[in-house]
Amino acid sequence: NAADKGAYPFYMLKEIDEQPAVMRRLVQEYLGANGKPQIDEKLLAQMQEADHLYIVGAGTSYHAGLVGARLFERFAQIPTSVHISSEFAYEQPLLSKKPFFIFLSQSGETADSREVLVHVNENKWPSLTITNVDKSTLSREATHTLLLYAGPEIAVASTKAYTAQVAVEAILAKALGEYLGLEAAQKFDVKDELAKVANGMQALVDSKDEIEAIASHALSKPRNAFYIGRGLDWSVSLEAALKLKEISYVQAEGFASGELKHGTIALIEKNTPVIGIITQSRTAGLTRSNLEETAARGANILTIASRHLAKEDDSIILPDVDEMISPLLSVVPAQLLAYYTSLGKGLDVDKPRNLAKSVTVQ
Ligand code: G6P
Repeated sequence: NAADKGAYPFYMLKEIDEQPAVMRRLVQEYLGANGKPQIDEKLLAQMQEADHLYIVGAGTSYHAGLVGARLFERFAQIPTSVHISSEFAYEQPLLSKKPFFIFLSQSGETADSREVLVHVNENKWPSLTITNVDKSTLSREATHTLLLYAGPEIAVASTKAYTAQVAVEAILAKALGEYLGLEAAQKFDVKDELAKVANGMQALVDSKDEIEAIASHALSKPRNAFYIGRGLDWSVSLEAALKLKEISYVQAEGFASGELKHGTIALIEKNTPVIGIITQSRTAGLTRSNLEETAARGANILTIASRHLAKEDDSIILPDVDEMISPLLSVVPAQLLAYYTSLGKGLDVDKPRNLAKSVTVQ
């Protein structure tokens, strides 16, 4: 049974390990034999008419939205903004003339996201819910639904739902861009890339021992830790920090690496872990120099870098994929670092204090 943790000590580890299979399942469900996305034309037609996409989500789903916005802008060339549902619900930004809403929600039940959807429906704006739970509230009430096919996610800390959300966004951005006749989308071989991602994820989950050693050496004692990166690497930094703080109670924050010197660098002390995510060629050198700046102030620097940008002493090296979908790989070591830090402290990895899997109150 899919909701059984079998020989695993915690669901979270099982769910991290399932990610390569989830990627393959998404390829099967959404990409036909010829690699063409199988997405309802009515959905694409409505999205094409939009002058702005609004992505709405909470927690990890919000973080998946940050990545999605860049994918939609790159491949479909539609301006896209991302909103925290509990903010959007009560302080609505000035909207464009033809908005299209994308709700991201593993459970499909988050109350603040639903609050936004009720308002969207009152205004008869078109919407899409991307969710793991068929017939969930957000799925029933939106105009369209795409499923994540990730299987039940039991651990409170979301892992495979995040990577499934990013993969579905990549497939949809490709489909929409192709529908619009855009070259960047035509050139993006999402089927091949997701196959590479699945193999890359497998290699990462197979190197658990190394990641466990890094966690116990660098993260078991400090009270604070920072993930830094630029662009997509910044988006992943936010998710990586959330994973670490929610299950290991290390006060972890993700930062745009260029912002460090505008304040946060004051927090760096001897041995503060600063983990750089380096998957984007345009900014790799800049993030590396930001890491050096923290090292000069005593930080213990670690790196998660794509192979084509890697240096000899990088801590964790990621197999290469298209840089636009690198979050699918860079997040995996961060999930494992959080898992092993929590495990090493003897905490209940699956049920962190004060947190719920699904937040159904506003
Ligand atoms: C809770 C969970 C998070 C999740 C968030 C949004 O805070 O602990 O893991 O990301 O809700 O949930 P949703 O089901 O809407 O994705």
